[in-house]
Amino acid sequence: MAKPKRSLRCSECGREALAWSGQCGGCGAWNTLEEVTAAPARGGSGARPQRDAPRPTPLREVRAERSARLRTGIAELDRVLGGGLVPGSLILLGGAPGIGKSTIAGMALANLAAGGGQTLYVSGEESAAQVRRRAERLGEAALDVPMLAEPSLEAVLAALESERPDACVIDSVQTLAVAEAAPGSVGAVREATSALLEAAKRLDVTLILIGHLTKEGSLAGPRALEHLVDCVLHFEGERERTFRTLRALKNRFGATSEIGVFEMRAGGLVEVADPSARFVGEARPAPGSVILCAMEGTRPLLVEVQALVAPTEVEPPRRTATGVDRNRLALVLAVLARHAGLPLSSADVFVNVAGGVRVDEPGADLAVALAVASAHSGRPLESGGKPLACFGELGLTGEIRYVAHADRRVAEARKFGLPHVLGPPPGDEKITGLTGATTLAEALKGVGARGRLRSAA
Ligand code: TYD
Ligand code: MG
Repeated sequence: MAKPKRSLRCSECGREALAWSGQCGGCGAWNTLEEVTAAPARGGSGARPQRDAPRPTPLREVRAERSARLRTGIAELDRVLGGGLVPGSLILLGGAPGIGKSTIAGMALANLAAGGGQTLYVSGEESAAQVRRRAERLGEAALDVPMLAEPSLEAVLAALESERPDACVIDSVQTLAVAEAAPGSVGAVREATSALLEAAKRLDVTLILIGHLTKEGSLAGPRALEHLVDCVLHFEGERERTFRTLRALKNRFGATSEIGVFEMRAGGLVEVADPSARFVGEARPAPGSVILCAMEGTRPLLVEVQALVAPTEVEPPRRTATGVDRNRLALVLAVLARHAGLPLSSADVFVNVAGGVRVDEPGADLAVALAVASAHSGRPLESGGKPLACFGELGLTGEIRYVAHADRRVAEARKFGLPHVLGPPPGDEKITGLTGATTLAEALKGVGARGRLRSAA
């Protein structure tokens, strides 16, 4: 009999390594390689398994019935999911502690239960009494959801088998006790997920697995799970702030760029159906403030980008980005220095997207650049009594590049009382309200000495 093979695996991302090293080559984590014993390979080396070759089926003949989706009754959640929960699917819901994962999951189950669906809430994280107290805050329907304070995988599988709910929440996947593996370890989380996946498909139960994020922002262990599950949702925002955004990082049944915006209130999460109106309403023209016409999935979204530039003697100066990518900020600052002559090497630069929203798209560059330039000069940029609205990607030579959906971005700005938008040259398209600029220098000139955008031709 072949000997079991010893190999090394990263406890963070699950990548296998050939030789021991201090740092994992997959995720870059330190001291995470652990020795694992792999089952001996079946068959001898080079021996072909003896079986009949399977016959492939033409795709046309493959059966693919589309089952009706379960509406959670939370419109923003249903939209991010691509139209509701797909029966028999496995969803991983990740986010920092306290962000509202249990709340949104509890609300979704409450709505499903109110609509006559069979639900189940498994909590390994909190006691039954704690879950009840949350449900009391969420309203009468939340109290109808059956719950199980059962942190063992075996018991959960047995309960799924006997209860056969339409939808079940597991809060959280890291607290499930799996025989022989330490709870929360990559091995345990992976084993639990594989077993739950099998049960979800077989029993046609939609499972929502709640997963914690590590301080570094990765789903602890669950990075290794992303390929197992159908959908990875990420709940983000700052705990101290009321706005939360829900984003699909992976979705086998819908787009991944959709976001849902929520606000945490006393009675649970409230959907913000028109976030642009909220963010524009709160923005005032001031040095360092501009409005970015962003696209979040299929939806245009107006957000306020704020910057602060403060002289410093600290070396190297601070660069803090909240809501925009740090590397993108570094690029924008370099372009500002090189192509607009902005001396920022002895200044701290802070950039923030108001409301705790994250914008992950290249179209944010111009807004970051203009906010920093405005903060640096102390001159507000305004248009129609509001901060200047803009969008566009910056190239390394200081050019403003075209980004998708220019027309929809401008239309959204106009809808919320911002008639003039600064952006990339529209090309052949005729977009009312868009003032095009070819380069960053031209854009800065275009806003004029008084910080007002000269209206579009
Ligand atoms: P929770 O859903 O428990 O977060 P997570 O499961 O992601 O750790 O809730 C997070 C916070 O929300 C908690 O500090 C209390 C607050 N909260 C409200 O403000 N209103 C509510 O109605 C509820 C249920 C919670
Ligand atoms: Mg929780």
